[in-house]
This record gives sequence, structure tokens and C-alpha cells, in this order.
Amino acid sequence: MADWWDADGRRHRKQFSTAAAAREHEHRETAMAHAMRATREMKKVARTSGTKRSSPKTESGTIEAAKGKLGVMIPGMGAVATTFVAGVEAIRKGLAKPIGSLTQMGTIRLGKRTDARSPKVKEFVPLAGLDDLVFTGWDIFEDNMYEAASNAGVLDYRLLEQLKPFLSSIKPRAAVFDHNYVKKIDGPNVKKGKNKMDLAQQLRDDIRDFKKTSGASRLITMWCGSTESYIEPTEAHQSVKAFEKALKENDEMIAPSMIYAYASLMEGVPFANGAPNLTVDLPVMLELSRKNEAPICGKDFKTGQTLMKTVLAPAFKARLLGLSGWYSTNILGNRDGEVLDDPGSFKTKEESKLGVLEHILQPSLYPELYGNMYHKVRINYYPPRGDNKEGWDNIDIFGWLGYPMQIKVDFLCRDSILAAPIVLDLVLFLDLAKRCSELKGLGIQEWLSFYFKSPMTVPGLYPEHDLFIQLMKLKNTLRHLKGEELITHLGLEYYD
Ligand SMILES: NC(=O)c1ccc[n+]([C@@H]2O[C@H](COP(=O)([O-])OP(=O)(O)OC[C@H]3O[C@@H](n4cnc5c(N)ncnc54)[C@H](O)[C@@H]3O)[C@@H](O)[C@H]2O)c1
Repeated sequence: MADWWDADGRRHRKQFSTAAAAREHEHRETAMAHAMRATREMKKVARTSGTKRSSPKTESGTIEAAKGKLGVMIPGMGAVATTFVAGVEAIRKGLAKPIGSLTQMGTIRLGKRTDARSPKVKEFVPLAGLDDLVFTGWDIFEDNMYEAASNAGVLDYRLLEQLKPFLSSIKPRAAVFDHNYVKKIDGPNVKKGKNKMDLAQQLRDDIRDFKKTSGASRLITMWCGSTESYIEPTEAHQSVKAFEKALKENDEMIAPSMIYAYASLMEGVPFANGAPNLTVDLPVMLELSRKNEAPICGKDFKTGQTLMKTVLAPAFKARLLGLSGWYSTNILGNRDGEVLDDPGSFKTKEESKLGVLEHILQPSLYPELYGNMYHKVRINYYPPRGDNKEGWDNIDIFGWLGYPMQIKVDFLCRDSILAAPIVLDLVLFLDLAKRCSELKGLGIQEWLSFYFKSPMTVPGLYPEHDLFIQLMKLKNTLRHLKGEELITHLGLEYYD
């Protein structure tokens, strides 16, 4: 037997069908009462023991307000891009929720644990609203966003039908493309030009045209194009001067994605790279980004298997568990899978996926635990699966006295469903960086590492891969920008 109160505050005796149900209810009530008392006591301690509610310091630098429309330009209108744009429109229409998006659903704790201040991220920093987003894109195929989304087969057709007029209105601009860099696909909607510099100029014209016709006050470029063949940096990538000369000479080390990056940065437009291509991870792009105050970040969205890897590997290291081998395989049947079936594109992806364990586990610091680990990544194109990938991991670990153990992870995920909220957050955070006096001239936005498999850093710095360190870095950056205390999780002051 337990009590309940009606909407008018009247007390009633509650009847339970079994004694067990009544006991369970009572336990829950007691637990809630304890929790409420603990909170009251913590607040009292904070008031009486001098643990003050942290007051905001002066903000570091200034952040311009997010006034007007934000234009999102997407090279590559495939599965990820269409799932993102259709999702934004569905959310705007109240048909769905922005699940997976830190900017839309996440909160940020401020001050002491006793302060009970945890605003939503989007209320804490001035981000563009979803209603202010306008879109354009480039693709080698002529399909509009509705047709491309239907072909990608990620979203249910009933949802797509409701978004049809909006999605059909977004038609791809002609792409800068060269089959030699993405061997598995070819298409008709491609620009022609006398050299790569001419193509860059045509992209710059597109950017200006979109800004004018959409009425956007600010722009962002978000690479959602296919993974290009593996390229290593050469002399041509070392400075703006060398790169411009190479553009005019049609240097084959300049891939199409680099031409988009150059055009955007020349227009002062921030650029995010969702694929593992070098694209903006080059000295020339860093130079341009800094000079034109157009922030850059990349590379390769951290969605399924690598997300799991960067959660599990830090746990092994934290507990000093050894790793003898990690075998990761993927079965996927979308166009991305087809592109990655080519050895050149696969090599680019493989490099991006392999780096993670080395950096997290640091074999040079822990040779007995990680000195002999065997790490293998495979990607298998298997059309029946479409976008619904299977990422399968076999992990061989060892513990106390060297005894071996195994972990199996089988992640039946939806690639683009995991990628779309990342695209949204990157768009909004990069736009924030561009409006922020302290960030806009930095070039690489390392605080956005949270979203990438292969986070970009300045030369000489190793990337941070641990998902929770990345999240702390991101949130501390936001706190720092707003003059709030950074959270170190030290917590000794609660016990003074
Ligand atoms: N979905 C994920 O979970 C995920 C995770 C990490 C990285 N990525 C990367 O994101 C990118 C997009 O993935 P997707 O599943 O949407 O692939 P997709 O094949 O469905 O779409 C890519 C699109 O890019 C177009 N394209 C290729 N080169 C182009 C160019 N030079 N200019 C304009 N368009 C071009 C293609 O025609 C295609 O429509 C890929 O590089 C993929 O590796 C995806």
C-alpha cells in the first residue's frame, strides 16, 4: 500500500495488485526521497562552506550573433547528404526528432555539480537555428535531392513523400570530378575547364551565385563526396603559391576534393571533410584557412565501427588489459561500399581506420601490453545490405598473468543515420567558429575531433582519439569561449 496525490494535491491510498508491486513502489519512493534529500544537503553545504556557484568570467574574445540564413554547400549529394538534408526538413516540420545531435539534444554542465546548471548546448552558445539553414550541392549525377534520397534507400518512402517538394527543389550543380580519383563511378554532370585553376574559378562562381540567390549571410562547405584514391602530400601541397602553380599545370596530385577546398577557403568559407581524403589536411589549406579566417576540420566521420573502437580501446588501456589482436570487418552495400571496393579508395579509408588504436594504446609507452598487437581492417562490398552495414569485430585481449580473453562486437548499424547528426553538428559548430574571434583565425578546429575517425591536428601533434576525452575537449572549448570555468573533474572541493 502506498500514497499518491491527484492534480489538485489531494492524497489517495494507492492499491497494488500484488505485495511485490507495492514493495517495489515503496523502494522507488524511498530512493527518490534519498536523492532529493542528498541534493538539498549538497546545496546547503555549497551555501555554508563557501563553495560558491561559479560565476561566469569575462568571455574570451567575442562571438558574433548568428544573424540571417546559413548556406550549407555539399559536394556529394549521396546517402549521407540526403539523409542529413531530409532529416533537417523533417525536424523543421515536426515529423521527427534530431536524435544523435549534440547541438540539438545535448546539455552542458556549468560550474559545480551542486550548482545544478546544465543548459542545452544550443542555448549556451549562439548557434544558427535549423529554420535558418538553406542548402545547395554538387554531384556528378543529375538527380535532385528527392531522387538521390530515394536511390540511396536510407529513409522510408512515406517520409520522403512528405518532403518531396522541398527535396526536389535542391538540384545538383555540375561537379568538379575526375574518374581517375574515384574509379568505381562516373557521371554526366561534370564541369569542363581549361585547367584545374579554371575549375576552381567555376566553383568560386557557384559559391557566389548561391550566396546571392539564397540570401545567405554566411556559408559552410561540407564534403560528403566519395572517398578518393590514396594520395600523399607532395611539393604542390606545401604552400598557396606552389598549389596555385600546380592548379594551372593540372598537377595530378591535386584531387577534385582539394579544388573544392581551395575554392571555399579562397571565398573565406569554412570547410569540413567527412571523407578520409587529404583534402584540407595539407599545409596549403592551413595557410589559406588562417589567412582568410575560414576554419577547417576533418577527416572521415566517426560513425559505426570506429566509434565503438574509440570507446572500447580506452577502456582496455584504463584497466591495463593487453591486446594481442583486433580484426574488424565490414559488410556494406551502398554506393560508398562500391567506391571502397576499389583498392585506391580502400587504401585511403584503411589508413584512416588503422591509426586509431596506435594513438589510443600508445605501444611505445606500454610495450608489454600493446607492443605486439595485430590490427586488421577489411571492407567488403555486399549489395544486399544497402546502407545497413554490419561492422563485425573480434578482439583478443589478455589479463592478469597473461590469460587470454575474447570480445565480439557485431554492430548492425545504419551508416547514414549515424552520419547525419554529425553533419548537422559540424555545420553549426563550424559556423560558430567562423563567428568567434578566438577561433576563426586558428585554422584547424581540433575541438571538433569528436566527430572524426582521423582528427586533423597541427603538424607535430598526435591526434586525440578517445571519444570521452574528445567530448570533454569540445565542451571545455565551449565553456572557455563563454568565460565559464573549465571542468577538470577534480572535485576535491566537495570534501573540504
Ligand atoms: N556514412 C557513414 O557512416 C560515413 C562515415 C565516414 C565517412 N563517410 C564518407 O562520407 C562520404 C559520403 O558517403 P555516402 O554514403 O553518402 O556515399 P555516396 O556514394 O552515397 O555519396 C557520395 C556522392 O558523392 C558524389 N561525388 C563523388 N565525387 C564527387 C565530386 N568530385 N564532386 C561532387 N560529387 C561527387 C557521388 O556521385 C555520390 O553521389 C564518403 O566519402 C564516405 O566514405 C561516410
